[in-house]
Amino acid sequence: VFPPIEYLDFAHRWYGQVRFDLATSGIAQVAPGALGEPPRIDDYTARTRFRDAVAERYGVDAGEVVPSMGASGALFAAQATWLSPGDRLLVESPSYEPLWRSAQALGHPVDRFERAHGTRFALDVDAVLAGLKPQTRVVAVTNPHNPTGVVTDDATLRDLARALEERNVVLLVDEVYMELGQPRSTARRLGSNVITCSSATKCLGAGYVRAGWLLCPPERADDAARVERYVTGQAPPGSWALGEKVLARADALLQRAETIQRGKRTKIDRFLEQHAETLEWVPPPATGLFGWVRDRRGGDLMPRLERGITEHGVVVAPGSFFGDPSAFRLGWAGDGEKLEAALQILAQVLELGAGS
Ligand SMILES: Cc1ncc(COP(=O)(O)O)c(C=O)c1O
Repeated sequence: VFPPIEYLDFAHRWYGQVRFDLATSGIAQVAPGALGEPPRIDDYTARTRFRDAVAERYGVDAGEVVPSMGASGALFAAQATWLSPGDRLLVESPSYEPLWRSAQALGHPVDRFERAHGTRFALDVDAVLAGLKPQTRVVAVTNPHNPTGVVTDDATLRDLARALEERNVVLLVDEVYMELGQPRSTARRLGSNVITCSSATKCLGAGYVRAGWLLCPPERADDAARVERYVTGQAPPGSWALGEKVLARADALLQRAETIQRGKRTKIDRFLEQHAETLEWVPPPATGLFGWVRDRRGGDLMPRLERGITEHGVVVAPGSFFGDPSAFRLGWAGDGEKLEAALQILAQVLELGAGS
């Protein structure tokens, strides 16, 4: 019933296991000690405080917040709640696999709409509407887009939400990478049919806490929260207690993230300029942690990328997991000290030559 989530299997196998990491998409983990006094992990009131902290940070009502085990838990809850038997999911392509896999695992047909290189991976309202079928009940997107890092503005999301509302369709926006570029913002406020998810993992650097959230209309929050009963019985209160501490320090953690990332993007830009004859990309905003790089020579890069891992100790996120085997997601959230060496080895693995 539950097919492999191939990208996550790959990520768990290799990320953090090789010398040169150009794949990881989240800020380096903050040490637990930096989150202050360890909280009581048996305090069952922490869930409510975490929920309230999320509500306050994003300017939504506490009744709209469903705490979840990571954004992953929120994605599952969203698809299990907003899709009924016979309903279809429409998802962006290229796409982050868990955005559609749980819908598929739950028995829902999945359709795709293109975010095309030619339109700089823009989220095109007409392309979404053209992809709808009468049974489509949820449209799933990421913002910033994983894997390209491209950001969709609020006006476009609002237009899309409005057009979908007329058709009784919910817009699910995974905004797990949003905080670095637009702190405290959420698409939840852009339409009554918009639901969003995020977590403390990517921008705040506290993935081990597993504190995430779904934001949704209050009248559906209990339905979405019920999913937790099925998958964990009750989520560990220590996660919410730590999540509360992470959110209390969110602005400082964003500052930390900025410091960690400083100077890396210049190196990435230089690399891509140097190899522009072979590699192309749409540069994401400066605050992004990754971009989507296509090899103009085409073909399936997977064999080379696998050799890169096993023979050269360098890993990127292969494009085949996102829907384009001739591309890869290049990330610069890994160790800054090793970034230039990692890029040189990648150039070797891809046989890019000296570049221009
Ligand atoms: C777009 C997107 N959503 C959700 C997640 C999962 O986040 P979490 O660690 O909060 O479960 C990831 C992780 O890579 C992601 O890229």
